[in-house]
Amino acid sequence: MNEAGKTPLIDLRNIYKIYYMGEEEVRANDGINLAICEGEFVAIVGKSGSGKSTLMNIIGALDVPTDGEYYLAGNDVSDMSDNELAEIRNSRIGFVFQQYNLLPKLNLLENVELPLLYAGMDTWERRERALESLERVGLKEKWRSFPSQLSGGQQQRVSIARALAGNPSLILADEPTGALDSRTGRDVLDFLKKLNWEGNTIVMITHDSSIALEAERVVRIYDGKINFDGDVKEYAAII
Ligand SMILES: Nc1ncnc2c1ncn2[C@@H]1O[C@H](COP(=O)(O)OP(=O)(O)O)[C@@H](O)[C@H]1O
Ligand SMILES: [Mg+2]
Repeated sequence: MNEAGKTPLIDLRNIYKIYYMGEEEVRANDGINLAICEGEFVAIVGKSGSGKSTLMNIIGALDVPTDGEYYLAGNDVSDMSDNELAEIRNSRIGFVFQQYNLLPKLNLLENVELPLLYAGMDTWERRERALESLERVGLKEKWRSFPSQLSGGQQQRVSIARALAGNPSLILADEPTGALDSRTGRDVLDFLKKLNWEGNTIVMITHDSSIALEAERVVRIYDGKINFDGDVKEYAAII
């Protein structure tokens, strides 16, 4: 519980992820404590190799820590089985990746429907939700198009629509502007901000501190440890 008496959406306690490379021990996450509440827009920033992807995989229930506890919306994720992890991922998290990860042979509607299909939703509800979601990103009219017929920025918007379709508690974006030119990247960031104003919780991973400045709160990771966690204004003053 935080001061407001709310249970955090993400609650990471003393998280370690340790890889063994022969004799050598790599502490990719080395004692991370982090709580994120519903409605926040947090950037996790750090240079390459600092442990961002490792942390993203843990937050996204794609992997479990070597040690420590992780509660996602009050559920203890730290020692879930693969099936339980898949279930919590499907029901709670919308992923946005740098490379969009759209399937080229599916049209936009089918791409956005995919996570709903995995979640076991029936055809009509799926269709309705996917169209609604495409409408939110301004691409409803193009539902029949294929990813290759769209610009990079539009493809990233489809991937955001796919992330939104299941009405997730959390949108987890890994370098969402990494493959885009700066203007298109700007549009995608503005769109993520808009989603945050509408109440969505957003965690964005980036190696670029100028992109981190678009969030409300910045968490900086260095050698697997958090070495800054604060308001974006404080962050702006130290970079
Ligand atoms: N599967 C793995 N096996 C061994 N070492 C790994 C593995 N994944 C990550 N690492 C190491 O952990 C550290 C953090 O990696 P990563 O989380 O990918 O950092 P970032 O995303 O910030 O670039 C790096 O030293 C990396 O080499
Ligand atoms: Mg990475």
